Amino acid sequence: MERRQFIKSAVSGSAMVLSGHALARIAASSAVGQSRSADSRIEILLNEPIGKIAPEIYGHFAEHLGGVVYGGIWVGEDSRVPNVGGIRKSLIDAVQRVKPSVVRWPGGCFADSYNWRDGVGPRSQRPRRTNFWRDAGEWPKDVPDGPWNYDTNQFGTNEFMRFCRLIGAQPYVAANVRSLTARDFYEWVEYCNSPAGTTTLADARASGGDREPFKVRCWGVGNESWGCGGNFTPEEYAAEYRRFAEWVPKYGIEPAFIGAGPNSGDLDWTRRFFARMNERRALGRIWGWALHHYSWNVSGGRTTDWRQGKGDALKFPIDEWYELLREADKMESLITDHWSVMSETDRQHRVKLVVDEWGSWYRPGTETYNTHLLGQQSTMRDAVLAGLTLNTFNRHADKVAMASVAQLINCLQSLFLANEDKFVTTPTFHVFEMYAAHQGGQSVRTVCSGPRPSYIRNGQPATIRGLSESASLSDRQLVVTVTNPDATQGRLTEIAIRGASAKSIKAKVLATRDIHAHNSFDEPRSVEPVEAPVAAPRGGTLVYEFAPASVTRLQIVLE
Ligand code: AHR
Repeated sequence: MERRQFIKSAVSGSAMVLSGHALARIAASSAVGQSRSADSRIEILLNEPIGKIAPEIYGHFAEHLGGVVYGGIWVGEDSRVPNVGGIRKSLIDAVQRVKPSVVRWPGGCFADSYNWRDGVGPRSQRPRRTNFWRDAGEWPKDVPDGPWNYDTNQFGTNEFMRFCRLIGAQPYVAANVRSLTARDFYEWVEYCNSPAGTTTLADARASGGDREPFKVRCWGVGNESWGCGGNFTPEEYAAEYRRFAEWVPKYGIEPAFIGAGPNSGDLDWTRRFFARMNERRALGRIWGWALHHYSWNVSGGRTTDWRQGKGDALKFPIDEWYELLREADKMESLITDHWSVMSETDRQHRVKLVVDEWGSWYRPGTETYNTHLLGQQSTMRDAVLAGLTLNTFNRHADKVAMASVAQLINCLQSLFLANEDKFVTTPTFHVFEMYAAHQGGQSVRTVCSGPRPSYIRNGQPATIRGLSESASLSDRQLVVTVTNPDATQGRLTEIAIRGASAKSIKAKVLATRDIHAHNSFDEPRSVEPVEAPVAAPRGGTLVYEFAPASVTRLQIVLE
């Protein structure tokens, strides 16, 4: 079965984990151990700016799916779990640390089955509806009935907006194109954005506790319209898109409409949609074009079957470590390929890419609780995957305007896992916290060279990209982030900064001896970053050893 088909039909490691202290010692000796010569090199070209790194690249995704909303974000006001107006307090506190710029909601596939009216008005009177994912055929065993399969609508538009306000993120709302009309969409916009006291829907919003408009700017026009979002052809979707995005009431806010873009490398979807929109002179209605890319197939090319190709989140051989990172590294060519196809019609590149679903996707079995559909554990492999993907977005800051990792909590590549009052941050959370320093910085060009790690792929020798890097400048502070995917070899690297010299340098390192290391409710701090000392630069060039299987952030103050 292919992913497209799945979406359509769905309409341990014996880890010797190091303590933070031990890791600091490794990192420290790495940083100064320069007796052998460097095998890798990173040049940072300060005078070659790429573009501002939109904070929105560091965005999140929360769908009504399994344990994301119910049990993850929303615990209810009467819960014994500490909460702020029903929203889990531990999540609010932790997510602020990654500076969450934007949250996409309510799906995902769920969005094209959601009636926003079910989620407004007094909570005690809201209807209970069958959740889209109820029949997706992916549930783990023995799942009791609850809001995850019969949505109680306790978390609706006002609750989502409050969550965004509490964490300091902007909302990105996905409209239902498959099963509601354009009028329903306009009215949702009216509910959210019409000024206080002007319309009946503004009054309804005020009765829900929010007199002032939410000022939602980002609107997704459906989701995966090639699959669960309607199974449209690109031309059919272009017609639906125009119906939804033309003449939407603005209320003084210029809407940023985001089209349901391709599944990974489907260039035909992009080409035909853009061609039809261009024919109808409607390219100006598109702000962003959403690309989805999941890293799931670890079969090494043996199968493309959506179920058989997946591996386990925790128990994986080293070849699957490399294979998954190879899948993730396709992001670079996906961005450049779709960008180039978009330019066939959008010559000025007014439309930017929005990678609003990305991350790892494993087979079921490591979810922390049985209602967490698509829930999975997250190891150092996911941390390296996140670091390498975010480096890719930073390097293409001129093309990628927004992105959201799938998904925030209790789901695919999550930053958090929670069940009742238990809550833990994953290695991916630490990467987002380390990389937050890039937000709003000027991305500058880098050139990286060095050995490629090798492994056995389906019986044949294979290699993947070695170090991946990105650099950004904010005033006189240079932030450089680097992932080393080599599971066993450190990389002694010369780092040359062209255009300035370094005054002081700080390093933060996320690394573990065991590539399977992960955090759990019982061991919440197995994987966490440590500060590491860095030797002073010699003659303008810094030499640094990137630990095996690591994510590193260097913060360099320039003279
Ligand atoms: O993130 C899980 C699902 O993956 C989303 O609902 C859908 O858009 C994608 O196929």
